[in-house]
Amino acid sequence: MRNYVIEDLPHYFEEYKKSIKNPKKFWDKVADQNFVWYQRWSKVVKYDMNEAKITWFKDAKLNITKNCLDRHLSVRGEKTAIIWEPNDPKEEAQHISYNELYERVNKTANVLKDMGIEKGDRVCIYLPMIPELAVTMLACAKIGAVHSVIFAGFSASAVVSRVNDCGAKMLITSDGSYRGNKVLDLKSIIDEALEKCPTVEKALVVKRTNNEVKMKEGRDFWMADLYEKASADFVTIIMDAEDPLFILYTSGSTGKPKGMLHTSAGYMVYSAYTFKNVFNYQENDIYWCTADIGWITGHSYILYGPLLNGATTVIFEGVPTYPEPDRFWEVIEKHKVTQFYTAPTAIRSLAKESAEWVDKHDLSSLRVIGSVGEPINDEAWHWFNDHVGRKKCPIVDTWWQTETGGIMISPIPFVTPTKPTYATLPLPGIQPVLMDDKRNEITGNQVTGNLCIRFPWPGIARTIWGDHQRYKETYFSAFPGKYFTGDGALRDEVGYYRITGRVDDVVIVSGHNLGTAPIEDSINEHPAVAESAIVGFPHDIKGSALYGFVILKDTGAGRQKENLKKEINQLISDQIGPIAKLDKIQFVSGLPKTRSGKIMRRILRKIAEGDFSNFGDTSTLLNPEIVEEIKNERI
Ligand code: PRX
Repeated sequence: MRNYVIEDLPHYFEEYKKSIKNPKKFWDKVADQNFVWYQRWSKVVKYDMNEAKITWFKDAKLNITKNCLDRHLSVRGEKTAIIWEPNDPKEEAQHISYNELYERVNKTANVLKDMGIEKGDRVCIYLPMIPELAVTMLACAKIGAVHSVIFAGFSASAVVSRVNDCGAKMLITSDGSYRGNKVLDLKSIIDEALEKCPTVEKALVVKRTNNEVKMKEGRDFWMADLYEKASADFVTIIMDAEDPLFILYTSGSTGKPKGMLHTSAGYMVYSAYTFKNVFNYQENDIYWCTADIGWITGHSYILYGPLLNGATTVIFEGVPTYPEPDRFWEVIEKHKVTQFYTAPTAIRSLAKESAEWVDKHDLSSLRVIGSVGEPINDEAWHWFNDHVGRKKCPIVDTWWQTETGGIMISPIPFVTPTKPTYATLPLPGIQPVLMDDKRNEITGNQVTGNLCIRFPWPGIARTIWGDHQRYKETYFSAFPGKYFTGDGALRDEVGYYRITGRVDDVVIVSGHNLGTAPIEDSINEHPAVAESAIVGFPHDIKGSALYGFVILKDTGAGRQKENLKKEINQLISDQIGPIAKLDKIQFVSGLPKTRSGKIMRRILRKIAEGDFSNFGDTSTLLNPEIVEEIKNERI
């Protein structure tokens, strides 16, 4: 990234002002000076925020892998692109150079091609955090196929809904995965899923755990066999600026998951620009983001952002507590990590261990530490600052979303003075606005409201795969002319933003976005359940946890309620994944409803939080007496 590195606070304000006054000029320069293009754009941006139609760098031709790999070969071919740290510290870490990564991507692209994958085809990837995950994503990008990574902790039915929604032609998985001392059998999850995925013609299987797996004749192939025979030469496919790069699913407050579509040029420019500035990236840094690549954080800030900048990025297969609760700190010390980017849930769970685990490690290599995915509370912020950053590393509390493609509001290290629990200031090009419930913009400082963004930025998702109407309704209709984030925010006296949390029916549990409606739908499938409502409540480690209020069809039934609770959680686990399990389940005889039949979640939320102080006016409820009953039986 040349010329667009923000140097100090006055420079930030100057850049910010320029970027708002003339966003076209601003992004035109960033794009022009930092990437290789086959052809330049004819127009920087074109948008209609009412129709939710946005294009960036129209008519430009590129391939993101040329920028992630090829252009680095002459200057840093032998430099390590990926440090892979396996689950078991006794297994040796791998250092994959840019040259080697280039070759592996080429060979894999040939494997995909030989298996019939062409530009525009969708390929789902269900892999653990192994180098092949990065390699297959890049191979898809190289060939012009649209990757859709499905987090390898999701259940078979969650895989089915995603694969079928995008109509994937191929699925890439592994025989298994290591998570701490567990070995998970990924292939049998995929076998079960693929029974219900008619569009998938071929499945490629990477060997990792040597689990015994079933291979279906004509459908399943070992990646290694094909890779061995593949040529190392591949002619990169030329992509249009707005050709799809990937689809990534995120929960909505209602209905099935939303396949957020990111396109080639805008995503590339935005992920690269934000990586460089937010992490103060310098050429010899060793950067580590602990997210899973199956989430947007991993896409933008393990893979694309770092490789676009020619960085060394750490991919960690394991978990923070294996073999001991100092694994993160050990890895930082071992690889001399300079930037460490993690989630508040991880910080909180490690902070509850003895401080000796962290204090005994040499973390002096660290320069910048970061947090993402959920609000970071004051205590966690300070623990992170004191024990990990040792009060010398700025904390970048980065606010963004799957939909935004890259970081939107964040301190810039050594530039923006940090403030605990505040994401602070918008990055150049980002125009946050706070709106009240009557759709009026709230001006001035020391205010709170619904967080919207006024003008498009290059990284914004362009649509929901196959459902543009839903995209428009979800993000562009609540506050016409603006992108609505679904979050609430506070703007303090100096204009710093603090994200206060979701204002819709999405709950963030351990940094995972969970829509309550899909969980309710799966609970309601239990034969004993008549109706349910789920809300979030504060949790010490997970940030938020889920509380379910469940009405049984036959309350007098002699069924063991404890068993029922287990069955309900098993159902959720099977249909969505273990992360969506409920922490508390309360059986109730009714749910507070308005006269039009809408569940009053506001009241349920208060009960779940244990705050009985102000339920508001309950007299308009259809069944006000139920509130007392639910309250008295709260768990
Ligand atoms: O509520 C916000 C929260 O995570 C949501 C986006 O989740 P997802 O699409 O899964 O992407 C997570 C990683 C970018 C947001 O709407 N969130 C994300 N970062 C923060 C945050 N809440 C508070 N502070 C943050 N730094």
